[in-house]
Amino acid sequence: MQTLRLSAAIPSDLDRAAALLRAGELAALPTETVYGLAANALDGDAVAKIFTAKGRPQDNPLIVHVPGAADAAALAADFPPEAQRLADVFWPGPLTIILPSSGMVAPAVSAGLPTVALRVPAHPAALALLQAAGIPLAAPSANRSGSPSPTAAAHVLADLDGRIATVLDGGPCGIGVESTVVSLAGESPCLLRPGGVTLAQLRDVLGDVTVSPSVTAPLENGETAASPGMKYRHYAPEASLTLVRGSAAAFAAYAVSCAAGWDGLLCFDEDLFCLRALLPKRSVLLTYGSETDPAAQARLLFARLREMDALGLRRALVHCPSADGAGLAVYNRLLRAASFRVVEATSCFPVSRFP
Ligand code: TXA
Ligand code: MG
Repeated sequence: MQTLRLSAAIPSDLDRAAALLRAGELAALPTETVYGLAANALDGDAVAKIFTAKGRPQDNPLIVHVPGAADAAALAADFPPEAQRLADVFWPGPLTIILPSSGMVAPAVSAGLPTVALRVPAHPAALALLQAAGIPLAAPSANRSGSPSPTAAAHVLADLDGRIATVLDGGPCGIGVESTVVSLAGESPCLLRPGGVTLAQLRDVLGDVTVSPSVTAPLENGETAASPGMKYRHYAPEASLTLVRGSAAAFAAYAVSCAAGWDGLLCFDEDLFCLRALLPKRSVLLTYGSETDPAAQARLLFARLREMDALGLRRALVHCPSADGAGLAVYNRLLRAASFRVVEATSCFPVSRFP
């Protein structure tokens, strides 16, 4: 079965995708964050197909997409004032709220947890599809489990062609990293995954918000993940990545000092001048935006990780982004892509060791 590529700009294509979803098939859809792989969240058989197509571990629950806050409230056991305030400010948009489940979605969606993850996406095609289908859509990112999330329809096809009924092509995703996930199911609000809505923005609305340690650190042996997705190696290209912290000059000096230890660099626009001056012409240099522009970094990151695979890179250095504000989401994804391997390049003098 070849995957049918439909255009989000054509109303009859949107209706065809909606009909496939209502019939229990899988459809990939564009959202403002990344492409999602959708199935009817009320149909256990349809949801099971998501886990098979992605090769996703059964204990990793799915986000349920709905067209409005009232639809989200119907899927939660309770929709507290904090959830309503978040919905008023950030929906439609890149925020997922975890709440106790009403039990209405298929059990596989929550992977055995008593909670459900809810989001109203902002992409017009996602909202139109939700309206046309008239059902809540469980949708994880539309990649094979573990690989970088898809930010274009071509990425979805590269991973899932033949495994899903259709992909609705809505062009490249505007944000480029997955939604912020905040849990309102515990004692106090807790950030489980940073994304397009920043921690500061959440705190503006909710007051105190704790940050799950898994945002910036690997789980300890035997530790339970508040968000099961955080325990898997994620977003990773085939190449083994090392994050390098430091100024443009320090990054360049580090790269030069261990040039035999890498076959590609992922860096900022500002790094190119120094690197081109110091490295051989044939060096593979990819950029993911300006050092001072976390939104551009987020938009470009996953496509660049996929390009590394296309180039056949085996070991690459990545200039580490700032973890401040909107940068936290990019930093969080890169930490996982690099299996938490980070080195400091503190001076411009050559460093002798490469991990
Ligand atoms: O932007 C996004 O969130 C995209 C688009 C398609 O909406 N979706 C997405 O889904 O990133 P996925 O499955 O790749 O990531 C969902 C994350 C996982 O880390 C999962 O463990 C967590 O949300 N999650 C889902 N339900 C949960 C629950 N009930 N409790 C805790 N974590 C949950
Ligand atoms: Mg994912």
